[in-house]
Amino acid sequence: MAPSPRDAAPHLQQAMNETVESVNKTIGRLLPESDSAEGRLYDAMRHGVLAGGKRLRPFMLMQSAALFNVDPARSRRAAAALEMVHCYSLIHDDLPAMDNSSLRRGKKTVHKQFDEATAILAGDALLTLGFEILSQEDTHPDPHVRIELVNKLAFASGGQGMCGGQMLDLIGESEEFDLGTISRMQRMKTGKLMSYACEAGAILGKADEPHRKALCNYAHDLGLAFQVTDDILDVEADPDQTGKPANQDENAGKSTFVSTMGKEQAKARAEMLVAQATRHLKIFEGRATLLKDLAHYVLERRA
Ligand code: IPE
Ligand code: IPE
Ligand code: MG
Ligand code: MG
Ligand code: MG
Repeated sequence: MAPSPRDAAPHLQQAMNETVESVNKTIGRLLPESDSAEGRLYDAMRHGVLAGGKRLRPFMLMQSAALFNVDPARSRRAAAALEMVHCYSLIHDDLPAMDNSSLRRGKKTVHKQFDEATAILAGDALLTLGFEILSQEDTHPDPHVRIELVNKLAFASGGQGMCGGQMLDLIGESEEFDLGTISRMQRMKTGKLMSYACEAGAILGKADEPHRKALCNYAHDLGLAFQVTDDILDVEADPDQTGKPANQDENAGKSTFVSTMGKEQAKARAEMLVAQATRHLKIFEGRATLLKDLAHYVLERRA
């Protein structure tokens, strides 16, 4: 079965399901099928972005934006753009040259369903489409807001963010990393895009610096905790639930928290990070309950 947020508390699950539904609609509208000669590219992009997914980053973005009363039509577009960038990173992560994975979200990975060259192009085109959407006036009428959304996403997904983290991840297959380096790698490959999710909500809402910073800090800690639990799920979860093959990290000789400190200590580290993440939400004086619940869901999740 494809992953879904079913391990969450009922009210959180309902809110997450609503995000899945509304963001999927927006993505479907922004990325329609194409009957042009190059339509295969669009089929591959749609497979990569619409075939399941928990839509966690869109949820974080939309919940953060809601704290500042942002029009959901705007935050949905930013959320769809971010999810496209996330899905590009997954399509490329699954390629034979990287993690060489054949299953994602319970379905064939894009290069298995189509072919490698098409998967590379589908990833490239999703990345650029994400930026195109952010740059459009419908995302926000204020060009300063749009340029900041674009600028911060470039930073979070590039060499100092996700791509840099992915490079470290590959180097970590043949080099022993200390805990500091593993932590930095995880913050870059996963933490930065999650942090962007919350920061984008604050940018759309023209939030003041303390509130924006609090959200960034929350998401950064949560992102690291999320990657730690991803590494734990790799060794102990059921592929029917995660929609991904099991034991991929160990088979590839990856450096993870689990490989370095063992599963139990990794779990304790995730719990510590989640507690730290939720403390950053205090500034919202009880208004950020769904974000707080989301942090606990990250510990409980099985997918
Ligand atoms: C998987 O992300 C890749 C990591 C950064 C660990 P998710 O677990 O959010 O994957 P989907 O989007 O729900 O499939
Ligand atoms: C990938 O980390 C993080 C990305 C930036 C794509 P993983 O390689 O652990 O993600 P999964 O387990 O394949 O989803
Ligand atoms: Mg990987
Ligand atoms: Mg992978
Ligand atoms: Mg993983």
